[in-house]
Amino acid sequence: MKKTIIFCITAFLCLLVSGSIIARDFQSIKLPPHDFKKGKMPKELTVTQALWARESTKSFKDQDLDPGDISNILWAAVGVNRIITATDGTITRKLTIPLARNQQHVSVYAVLKQGVYLYDFINNELNLVLAGDHRSETTTGQAYVYDAPLDLIFVSDLSKLSFVTGPELYYTAAISIGCAIQNVYLYVAGTQRLGAVCRTSIDTKLWAEYLGLSDNQMIMGTQTVGYPAD
Ligand SMILES: Cc1cc2nc3c(=O)[nH]c(=O)nc-3n(C[C@H](O)[C@H](O)[C@H](O)COP(=O)(O)O)c2cc1C
Repeated sequence: MKKTIIFCITAFLCLLVSGSIIARDFQSIKLPPHDFKKGKMPKELTVTQALWARESTKSFKDQDLDPGDISNILWAAVGVNRIITATDGTITRKLTIPLARNQQHVSVYAVLKQGVYLYDFINNELNLVLAGDHRSETTTGQAYVYDAPLDLIFVSDLSKLSFVTGPELYYTAAISIGCAIQNVYLYVAGTQRLGAVCRTSIDTKLWAEYLGLSDNQMIMGTQTVGYPAD
């Protein structure tokens, strides 16, 4: 009996250790479901109140974000908010941001303490692109970024917008990314707990290499999110 108990405890500990190794690898992070309740959370502001509260925060606490907030922030940025089934059974996903011809050219990367991840908006998960803490490298010298727990990097795949050319190509891409950034600003303002700032102060050449972007993929902004410092 005693041997069986010891065996069970050892087996349990082995499972725990192997589980923690998987967790430490952070290859893929399944995010908690974003809030599908189409009403206010207890302390959340209305959209109008959030518009009044929207502002840029440039001083952050060195404090990790709640996974639920990470999920909601990414969903606000480029989440699926409608799935439309045509009469022939074809499924179309539509997002929280408007997109020209619904061409889903926007990718969002989450730069966290544990690594750099690409947000998979269909499966609501983060997939590792680059291990390690690269948050301070998302700025070209703005020190307030170093303490913040999350930097979002917004990328447009311009090859998906081949129906527009010249300057129209860039502003077609940038309009959707501006909407994603504003969605995050409004989500953050609504929580009354978080702060954010959109930035263009990023070394786009370095990050194109880090993220393995193609020539058609263009970094069009970054946004730092976290708890405002007191
Ligand atoms: C396109 C764009 C680029 C920006 N780039 C930076 C930046 O690189 N660094 C920064 O600290 N703030 C940046 N900001 C934030 C502005 O400084 C901020 O929005 C401005 O001071 C107005 O403040 P508010 O957002 O609180 O209204 C940027 C804002 C925009 C719209």
